[in-house]
Amino acid sequence: MTGGGLRYRLVAIPGDGVGPEVVAAARRVVDAAGRRFGFGVDWTEIVAGGAAIDAYGVAIRPEDVETCRASDAVLLGAVGGPQWSDPSAPVRPEQALFALRGGLGLFANLRPVKVHPALVGSSPLRPELLDGVDLLIVRELTGGVYFGERQEASDIPGERRAVDTMPYGEDEIRRIVLLAGAFALTRRRRLTSVDKANVLATSRLWRRVVDEERRRMPDVEVTHQLVDSCAMLLVKRPADFDVIVTENLFGDILSDEAAVLAGSLGMLPSASLANRRTEHGTFGLYEPIHGSAPDIAGQDLANPIGTILSAAMMLFSSFNRRDAAEAIEAAVSRALDEGWRTRDLADPSDQRDGLVVVGTTGFATAVIEALEAAVPA
Ligand code: IPM
Ligand code: MG
Repeated sequence: MTGGGLRYRLVAIPGDGVGPEVVAAARRVVDAAGRRFGFGVDWTEIVAGGAAIDAYGVAIRPEDVETCRASDAVLLGAVGGPQWSDPSAPVRPEQALFALRGGLGLFANLRPVKVHPALVGSSPLRPELLDGVDLLIVRELTGGVYFGERQEASDIPGERRAVDTMPYGEDEIRRIVLLAGAFALTRRRRLTSVDKANVLATSRLWRRVVDEERRRMPDVEVTHQLVDSCAMLLVKRPADFDVIVTENLFGDILSDEAAVLAGSLGMLPSASLANRRTEHGTFGLYEPIHGSAPDIAGQDLANPIGTILSAAMMLFSSFNRRDAAEAIEAAVSRALDEGWRTRDLADPSDQRDGLVVVGTTGFATAVIEALEAAVPA
């Protein structure tokens, strides 16, 4: 079905490395879901990251940030690559992410981690530790050390010195904690607030705000955890966690750690939500948590699951399409159950029964076929 139903305005940012391939794969899946569920998508593509540095000399142009703002949601691949990786260069691909996060007020970064039963063997952790892992990291994304004042080390002779600052205001803490609490209510009702209150002033404020707000969530079991011990427990007893809420840098680090549980970084989606509603739902940006993987770029090797599942999160949060979001998730699961794998999940020389190693496009096709089989036209 096309035309007649709702139409969503989506911005696609393919970015660098494998970004264009995984975004193309996810776009096909979204369009296929639209045909089944009666919505259409008007895609606008913009250039960001290294590609924009090459084209325009900046990581993202202000007018392209405005195009994103005027849309219903944004789907992003990845930015970065070795040709732009000098950390002291004045223009860097990651600046596109900060411009989007800060500029569009994307303060809430959701990183769910689930382990598909068929992939338990792909994780370096013992299988019995992975049983029941289903956690959600809620990372504050527009505050803290990422956006604090900085003093770069200069090359003036003498002792070089650099300073990063980590500011947090109580309102920034409160809104992310309340959002995480709301997510916990829809899940297993456990919220772990992660900080470093034995050292950092911002963490002590964080803890005080959590203690004030927990009264507003009587049905959620709220605990505090220091970030170092949380890092340990994430690999020791990962199934114990439900929702984790934490500040920007801790969330960055813990989410890469948690990604190991799922067997491949390529599996995991993310949503970055703003405090703003469009005509259809919450405005957000959706991207896989993996990077641009330049070593495998352009070869149809990348795992598109993280991006496809990000698109499912988009349908859920930005368009209130639970039906289509769940159908995509189920189709990914089904494709894995049927034995379809990308190269990060199985070796092509592996003779295990029933596994078929395919490329990025081949996996997307398997997902679309599973979706179309499950949802009659
Ligand atoms: C992430 C990434 C970014 C971050 C980098 C690329 C700047 O690691 O989205 O987790 O640190 O936020
Ligand atoms: Mg990161």
